[in-house]
Amino acid sequence: MKEQIVRVQDAALGQIAAAKCIKDLESARVAILGKNGALTQVQQGMRNVPKEDKPAVGSLLNAARCAISAALETRTRELQEQADRAAIANVDITLPGASLPPGGLHPISLVREEAVRILRRMGFTLADGPEIEDEWHCFDALNTPADHPARNEKDTFYFDSGKLLRTQTSTVQARVMEKQAPPVRIICPGSAFRRDAIDATHLSAFNQIEGLYVDRMVSVGDLKGTLEYFLKALFGDNTAVRFRPHFFPFTEPSFEIDVLLQATGQEPRWIEIAGCGMVNPAVFENIDCKSGKDFYQGCTGFAFGIGLERLAMIRWGIRDIRLLIENDVRFLAQFQ
Ligand code: DAH
Repeated sequence: MKEQIVRVQDAALGQIAAAKCIKDLESARVAILGKNGALTQVQQGMRNVPKEDKPAVGSLLNAARCAISAALETRTRELQEQADRAAIANVDITLPGASLPPGGLHPISLVREEAVRILRRMGFTLADGPEIEDEWHCFDALNTPADHPARNEKDTFYFDSGKLLRTQTSTVQARVMEKQAPPVRIICPGSAFRRDAIDATHLSAFNQIEGLYVDRMVSVGDLKGTLEYFLKALFGDNTAVRFRPHFFPFTEPSFEIDVLLQATGQEPRWIEIAGCGMVNPAVFENIDCKSGKDFYQGCTGFAFGIGLERLAMIRWGIRDIRLLIENDVRFLAQFQ
């Protein structure tokens, strides 16, 4: 039996060394170690070996199996290297590679970064909140009654759990204030979602920057000054801005802000880009009531929510908001 093992091992090592390609090597492996392979067959003879000889024969068998496996591995590597070398033998690695055209940031990212830079320079810090929200942070905290149309299933994406996709980044106002005592001066860029039909000026998933400034003695003058400065820093000193009275449940008084879009070859027209107002005292009450603190008693503040798609449209004279989600490189390449 011992001689048999040595013979099979020698033959196997010879066969492995002689293999000329991976396929040969695989056939050799099957012929030696496979189910009916030479070594496997020898191994079956173990049952006839006298008990006292079993340990010695067994260890010889093991050593043979190890030696063969190691030889297989080494030869595989050698053959693989040979094949790799042959494959690149005629490749001129000094030739220049095929170049990939450089990518760039999407116009929404560009305008968001610029807006955030300006607002941070003015003393706002970044805050964040989840896109999947509960009704309290999206509506109740913000003084939006249960029968308000924005809460309707036709306007809001609800999950079966009762959670929803936030319809506005104003949710972050509530999230920050329930944790933090005033003064608060935050901005939050982020996505919002509404069940709106998509057209030239509406998307159902869009982006906003929310802002909130709360302290003592914050006035409408602060609100107007801040936002006018921001819009002029973004669009240039000559930018025409107007505030129109409006209604939001969470601000009183409330305004909408329009900026004059003067795209080349088009009639100038006002585009609504933001909502804003003085934080409704009811919001402060809701927050204090929820947190059990009286942080916001006697505070005043302003808040705003700016549409980032609208900012991009004004910045570059983009006529149709849908261009921003179509991913047409002919459009996007213009912003590199
Ligand atoms: N959340 C409003 C919207 O999505 C925008 C808005 C209006 C945000 C007034 C505010 C605000 O913070 O004070 O239409």
